Amino acid sequence: MTKPVAIVTRKWPKENEDRLRELFDVTLNTSDQAFSSDELKQALQNCDVLMPTVTDKITADVLSVENRRANMIGNFGVGFNHIDIKKAKELGITVSNTPSVLTDCTADIAMSLLLMVARRVGEGERELRAEKWTGWRPTHLLGTKVTGKTLGIIGFGRIGQAVAKRAHFGFDMNISYWDPFDIPEDVTKKFNATKLNTIEDICEQSDFVSINCPATEETFHLMNEDRFKLMKKTAFIINTARGDIIDEKALVNALNQNEIAGAGLDVFETEPNLPSELKTLENVVSYPHLGSATSETRIAMGNTAIDNSLAFFAGNDLPNKVV
Ligand code: DGY
Repeated sequence: MTKPVAIVTRKWPKENEDRLRELFDVTLNTSDQAFSSDELKQALQNCDVLMPTVTDKITADVLSVENRRANMIGNFGVGFNHIDIKKAKELGITVSNTPSVLTDCTADIAMSLLLMVARRVGEGERELRAEKWTGWRPTHLLGTKVTGKTLGIIGFGRIGQAVAKRAHFGFDMNISYWDPFDIPEDVTKKFNATKLNTIEDICEQSDFVSINCPATEETFHLMNEDRFKLMKKTAFIINTARGDIIDEKALVNALNQNEIAGAGLDVFETEPNLPSELKTLENVVSYPHLGSATSETRIAMGNTAIDNSLAFFAGNDLPNKVV
């Protein structure tokens, strides 16, 4: 039986690439250079399944390429805001993603940002590496206590709940959340989580605000100038979701005006470029989009994309169908 033709847009973990070679007639990206829009178009013309990732802009124009052969996009990543899903649906292209397998690691990164920024860990490490540490003293690098504080979670899905679990059981934090969907009572009970009616309530009442919602038209610049002004001056914002959920100009302004105490960010509006302030302000901790970056999780993401594509070619229900 002939194998489906697959094109993979970036380098994947070896375990995944070995499996891809077995199951598909695959073209791998050994150079790991990102595809241009023209290369994405050509790929769609020359394969049965395209396997892109979160940095590939699969626009309506790319999807509408003439003589497209691919009817399946097996995305390596849970977020799909880089794919024009409406257009894919209109053209009858199936798209899958990789939820669940990255929940724990992304929640771990959210907690690490929260701890790092509250306890001024980055500042301390920079001081030590610069050989400027003069020794222990009672007033050295005093941060903010995390245990027992209130964490407001915007987006109480899988990852938001995993953050709540860590914060509630590990750090005795009080959990509030905002979500447009109803969350089952057994879930909220588990973390003793309180639903707040508005994002404004979350901003006003939280010591830490964690962004865990998907990037959509509705969540674009959800954290804006007005909402930063509502936050406590002692509060921190944490973002492990998508950069454009925060208006970065408003964030930089809020930090410069001391309207909030700091920010812990794993994602940015125009990655990999970020405003210089987010690289230099002492009360900002920035990571280069590391949420899912563990070997275990990335291999699981690759396998999920492969499993979805196999299901497509076998004519079975996809485990993680987006459209
Ligand atoms: C995703 O999968 O959407 C993350 O942002 C990268 O792991």
